[in-house]
Amino acid sequence: MRVPILVDRSAAVPLQRQIYDGWRHGILAGRFRRGDRVPSTRELCDALAVSRATVSAAYEQLIAEGYFDTLPGSGTFISRDLPDQPVAGGRVARGPARAREVRLSQYAGRLEPDAARPPSRSGVVDLSAFGPDLGEFPFRLWQRLLMRHLRDAPRALFARVDHTRGHTPLLQEIAAYVSRSRAVRCHAEQVLIVNGSQQALDLCMRVLVDPGDEIALEDPGYPGTRQLAVAHGARIRPVGLTRDGVRIADLPDAARLVYVTPSHQFPTGVSMSVTRRLEIIEWARPRGAVIIEDDYDSEYRYSGPPLPALQGLGDALNVVYVGTFSNVMFPGLRIGYLIVPRALLEPFARAKWLTDRHTTLLEQAALADFLREGHLERHIRRMRRLYKRRREALIGALAKYFGRDARPCGDAAGMHTLVQFTRKDLGVRAERHAVRLVSADSYYMSGRSPNEFMLGFAATGERALVEGVKRLARA
Ligand SMILES: Cc1ncc(COP(=O)(O)O)c(C=O)c1O
Repeated sequence: MRVPILVDRSAAVPLQRQIYDGWRHGILAGRFRRGDRVPSTRELCDALAVSRATVSAAYEQLIAEGYFDTLPGSGTFISRDLPDQPVAGGRVARGPARAREVRLSQYAGRLEPDAARPPSRSGVVDLSAFGPDLGEFPFRLWQRLLMRHLRDAPRALFARVDHTRGHTPLLQEIAAYVSRSRAVRCHAEQVLIVNGSQQALDLCMRVLVDPGDEIALEDPGYPGTRQLAVAHGARIRPVGLTRDGVRIADLPDAARLVYVTPSHQFPTGVSMSVTRRLEIIEWARPRGAVIIEDDYDSEYRYSGPPLPALQGLGDALNVVYVGTFSNVMFPGLRIGYLIVPRALLEPFARAKWLTDRHTTLLEQAALADFLREGHLERHIRRMRRLYKRRREALIGALAKYFGRDARPCGDAAGMHTLVQFTRKDLGVRAERHAVRLVSADSYYMSGRSPNEFMLGFAATGERALVEGVKRLARA
């Protein structure tokens, strides 16, 4: 048999792909004609000295895509009704042309790789988990709410109409919720639903920052915001912290945007004092700078009265408030929200529309019920009691096993605590003693603090937390 196609064993392209490409290119180049019989898989595998399975897989793909036809009892043929037309004159490259390297955008060039986290091994105490305890979330109830809307939802919920800012009942529920629980000043028209607060921060950069603009970020601070700022080409000005929050004297005059986490600074856990909140509002106002208030885990405060949001302290004309359901519900939900000053609403809504039209609606509808029926606040109250006990267990164990060699920072709040240890190399030693820790190094932009670690306590039971600290002390 004359071998109709060739394969190259030294090439990086798998043989199956080469056989498929050989036939497809031959057909499109006019070398094989419609209706011609093609060798059987057995004949071709003998001729090319490759396995039958390899040839069969390539043939199956050619049949599925319409390049080959099979006639039972007669064999396989070049299809008479090809999915693509052969090129007139048969001028098609024999194989794929040599690929030229793709040039990436400057934006892509500025994207930083995320440190991959392998899954935790069994037997390891994971003190690096910052998320909520998923085992405590009422998923059955959530399922019921989703089903309710799947069953009864009007078609409009699934149609392509203008849902850019979000599902109206949810906008109303969120406006009411942040007003009563966080003293945020807003109307439902100022709420914009996003895919988690990470998208909220991305939209802030798109709408408020040009490449080369100065922006002020807390140092240490949330790396997700720093990475976004880098990607958008902003000039980052790190701002140090005092016990009251960001140091006003460090704020650069030309900053377009100041990003803060006032209720529980990420990662130090310090709460910004009310005086400092007022100072920063006063600082931003005459400069036309926008304050981004990321209130990512404000619902969890374990002592003292709740601190009102910074947004509600002034006239809120230049504060963009960011909230999320990732921590009070579950991170996979990917629903967060922005409370935007009226003057900025239109550009934010346009940017959201251009990015992804709107956030998924079925979950928004279920979430509106979750809030309206009081489930969210009930769940938060229950988690607050649970996480408080867990935090106390962690702090107690640190005091018992480390004494003055471990210093937890920040307020009794949130889902993690930053701890300064006097011992060196604790990270490496922890691993050997089956404890997973995450260093706070990557949160610092200037001046590292090598013996600081972020200890998450919300998702880990009290016994495991104590055991983890005990193992660390032995390390
Ligand atoms: C301070 C802070 N802001 C924002 C986010 C983004 O969270 P999400 O997009 O899940 O709402 C995180 C997540 O870790 C965070 O720690």
